[in-house]
Amino acid sequence: GKSVISLDDLSISQIRELLHKAQYIDSHRREVAHTCDGRVLATLFYEPSTRTRLSFETAMLRLGGKVIGFAGSQLSSASKGESIADTLKTVSNYVDVVAIRHPKEGAALVASRAASVPVINAGDGGHMHPTQTLADLATLQSRFGRVTDLTVGLCGDLMFGRTVHSLIETLCRFGNVHFVLISPDELKTPQYVLDRIDATPSCSYTEVKDLVSVIGDLDVLYMTRVQQERFFNEDDYLRLRDTYILDEDKLQLAKESMAVLHPLPRINEIAVEVDNDPRAAYFEQVKNGMLMRMALESSVVGDELPGYEPLEAKEV
Ligand code: CP
Repeated sequence: GKSVISLDDLSISQIRELLHKAQYIDSHRREVAHTCDGRVLATLFYEPSTRTRLSFETAMLRLGGKVIGFAGSQLSSASKGESIADTLKTVSNYVDVVAIRHPKEGAALVASRAASVPVINAGDGGHMHPTQTLADLATLQSRFGRVTDLTVGLCGDLMFGRTVHSLIETLCRFGNVHFVLISPDELKTPQYVLDRIDATPSCSYTEVKDLVSVIGDLDVLYMTRVQQERFFNEDDYLRLRDTYILDEDKLQLAKESMAVLHPLPRINEIAVEVDNDPRAAYFEQVKNGMLMRMALESSVVGDELPGYEPLEAKEV
């Protein structure tokens, strides 16, 4: 198996296969329950998490495997100054696959180079969050039957929001997406992400500050939390954190078919009243995240799902 640091590490047909596997897993939970018998996953989380760590772990447990790891580096030897490379050379002896989250951009890549087992990036600083993107793609696929030919608004902290960077990168590969990038000036999308859109002839973007004036154009509205942990200055965070709050009044201006996504956790940026709106898709993303991690974990360790027919074969 190979490491997944960015979704660029997987081909488009491999991503389609994972989407197809996740659907199969959802409807064949008992059949797949022993797929990874005897396997062990390590979750090395140097940064807080609820969804990502627990869903990586649940995914392996639901496939019949086992889990070890740490949540918070203060109880690991990282607190004594051990390098990521030495930690991965150690943990590679114990497990079949590693999921790592770390506050520094590039940490997952460093980990994968030191490891002798596949490493999956569970979020590296403000850079990438590929398995969140798998959850996002599965949600678009289930809502729209496609991940292309969409107008996708991304709103909030587009600078530090790693889920946004991974999603844009991957949607550009599928093609035919118009991005509406909604942020304050201080939190605009990084140039390396804009370059990716510019390099994709079938994709385009506009940058705006106002959500209300564009919400009616959107098929998807991807809300994000302002990433307090990446700010250098508390005053800037306090000034910017409540720039966008999606509520039922604003949703009245949106299409009936629009889907509201959010990687979670949310703070104030989506009013709780929106949870009951049929357009709210963020708890579906959570479910899809677990299913996609089941598909990914079984694939990177090389275990076949019993009874599963690959998509390629079906197309013949
Ligand atoms: N979406 C996401 O990464 O959530 P956690 O930070 O809780 O894992």
